[in-house]
Amino acid sequence: MRDTIEKAPVSRAVVHRYVPGTDVADAVGAAAELRATNRMVTIDYLGEDTLDAGQAAHTVDTYVGLLRALADKELSQFGAAEVSVKLSAVGQALPNDGEKIALDNARRICEAAKEADTTVTLDMEDHTTTDSTLSILAELRQDFPDTGAVLQSYLHRTEQDCRDLATAGSRVRLCKGAYKEPASVAYQDSEDVDLSYVRCLKILMAGEGYPMIASHDPRLIDIARALASRHGREPDSYEFQMLYGIRTDEQTRIADRGHQMRVYVPFGEEWYGYLMRRMAERPANLQFFLRSLVTK
Ligand code: FDA
Repeated sequence: MRDTIEKAPVSRAVVHRYVPGTDVADAVGAAAELRATNRMVTIDYLGEDTLDAGQAAHTVDTYVGLLRALADKELSQFGAAEVSVKLSAVGQALPNDGEKIALDNARRICEAAKEADTTVTLDMEDHTTTDSTLSILAELRQDFPDTGAVLQSYLHRTEQDCRDLATAGSRVRLCKGAYKEPASVAYQDSEDVDLSYVRCLKILMAGEGYPMIASHDPRLIDIARALASRHGREPDSYEFQMLYGIRTDEQTRIADRGHQMRVYVPFGEEWYGYLMRRMAERPANLQFFLRSLVTK
């Protein structure tokens, strides 16, 4: 890992715990280790909100190189290691043609993923981007039907989005949501966010799509397991997901019990923003990271 991490005013141990490195080789190495313990992987090249078309192109090239490296190491086959993409990192926020540029760039990443026999999931950012992201998803799914979406249970709109996406072949990652959002669009109380998560889970589990339960919350994981069983879902018809470095022991326990577990691995130079943003955006996330320093 480059010396940017050595010089950072953040403990190296903290950074390394959540971000395995800055380079494609670091991400591929982390993916190989996770695969060795039967966990699947989704890799995010860190960076977002770019207003520079050159930077967006660099991000696309990095994803294409990453996908080739994963295929070369036989890690990506059958979707075992896929990628997560923030559309704002590939041009969505650019003035004028941002949405079209992001769609074209995302399409290149989807093509590389298809060649590597794997998939792409579009991360969800703040609520001002939700409509644009879902419309790009719909376009991509015409050519790459297994492109995944992320829905955030803190948004009032998400139950309806779940209904719309709980269809055959549709991969939906359900998370609570990590951005600071106004009360006009999002539940502010964590209990309301959790209740919404359960309502959304019920819709996704009853539907025909492929739910991806992205949470470290033991109560929600138990509820997801119960709903999967109630709906007679086979273990390969849904999966659990957690972030790299968080509840690592629980990740392996879930995988060892015969469930599919995928770990979200962020890498890249932009790691500082990833950590700081998570800690700053919601008090719950600060507790979340601090707690993970003392528990596994
Ligand atoms: P939360 O942080 O509320 O924690 C709930 C409970 O989990 C705790 O009360 C505790 O019981 C348990 N817990 C948590 N950490 C623990 C620890 N270290 N040790 C023991 N117990 C612990 N967000 C977004 O807006 N857009 C996105 O695209 C994504 N993508 C994404 C992918 C994946 C794979 C994940 C896991 C998450 C995201 N997120 C996201 C982030 C998500 O929205 C959310 O901010 C975090 O996952 C934290 O929420 P939790 O559901 O884990 O619960």
